[in-house]
Amino acid sequence: MSYKLGVIGFGNIAKAIITPMLDQKLIKSHEIICLVNSKKSFENIKKFYNYDIDIFHSSSDEAKLIWNCPNKLLAIKPQQLESIEEIKTSKNSDNILISILAGISLNKLEKKFPNHKCVRAVTNIPITIKKGLTAISWGEKINEDEKKFVKNLFKNASKVFEFSEEYLDIFLALTSSSPAIIALIIEALSDGGLNGGLSKKISEELILDMILGTILLIKNSEITTADLKTMVTSPGGTTISALRVLEKKSLRSALIEAIIAATNKSKEFR
Ligand SMILES: NC(=O)c1ccc[n+]([C@@H]2O[C@H](COP(=O)([O-])OP(=O)(O)OC[C@H]3O[C@@H](n4cnc5c(N)ncnc54)[C@H](OP(=O)(O)O)[C@@H]3O)[C@@H](O)[C@H]2O)c1
Repeated sequence: MSYKLGVIGFGNIAKAIITPMLDQKLIKSHEIICLVNSKKSFENIKKFYNYDIDIFHSSSDEAKLIWNCPNKLLAIKPQQLESIEEIKTSKNSDNILISILAGISLNKLEKKFPNHKCVRAVTNIPITIKKGLTAISWGEKINEDEKKFVKNLFKNASKVFEFSEEYLDIFLALTSSSPAIIALIIEALSDGGLNGGLSKKISEELILDMILGTILLIKNSEITTADLKTMVTSPGGTTISALRVLEKKSLRSALIEAIIAATNKSKEFR
C-alpha cells in the first residue's frame, strides 16, 4: 500500500483538516494512514468516522508504515511529542512534516525530525466548522510545489496566511487562544441577562445573535469600531453608563494584557 499522507494523532483538529479533503475528493481514503494512542479513539474512529481510512494504534507494528509516507501531519498534543520517534527509511530523506503543535518551533521540529523538511502551522478551533484561520511558517528547503500542497491541506477549512515564524506567537494568541476569551465574554454577558431575570437559554441566544449581528455590521459596511461605539452611545444614556464601568474596571487593559500573556506563554514552549 502506498500512502500519500500520514496523520500522527487523528484527533479533533486533524479530522477538521482531513475530512473536507476527503469530502471534496482531493485525497482518497486509501491514500491516508492515521495513528491514535488509545483503544477508545481507535474503536470510535473505526465505528463512527464517515470514511474507511487505515487507522492504527501508535504502538502497533503497522504504525511504522507512517514513516514511509511522503507527507505527514503531526497533530498530537505538544506534551505528547516526547512519545514520537522518527524512523529513518530510505523513502523519507526528502519528505515533509507539517506540525500543528502549539508553540513548538521549527528549530525544535528540525532537531526531532532531522530527515524531514518541517513546516509549522498554527490554526484555531473554528477550523472544525470550516471557519478557521491558519498561519504557516516554512522550514528550510521547501519548494513552491510543496508549499502549494501544504496550503491546500488547510485551505478547505480555513483562511491561510504565510508568516515568518516570529509572528506565530502573536497569531496564536489572537486566533487560537482568543476563542476562549470570546466564550468567557459570552458567558459573562449572559450571566448579566440572568441577573436581570431572563433565563440562561434566552440570555445566551440574545448575546450570540447580538455578537453575530455586530460582527456582520462591522465586516459588511464602512463602519469602524469607533463609529459603531459613537452610534450606540447617546449622551447621558445607558451605553455610556455601561462603558464607564468597563473603563473603571480596566477591561481594555485586561484584554491587551491577556494577549501579551498568551504570546509570552507560546514563546516559552519554544
Ligand atoms: N484544540 C484547539 O483549540 C487547537 C487549535 C489549534 C491547534 N491545536 C493544536 O492541535 C493539536 C491537536 O489538538 P486536538 O485538539 O486535535 O487534540 P486531540 O483531539 O486530543 O488529538 C490528539 C490526537 O493525538 C493522538 N495521540 C496521542 N499520542 C499519540 C502518539 N504517541 N502517537 C500517535 N497519536 C497519538 C490522540 O490519540 P488518543 O485520542 O487515542 O489519545 C489523539 O487522536 C495540538 O498540538 C494543539 O496544540 C489545537
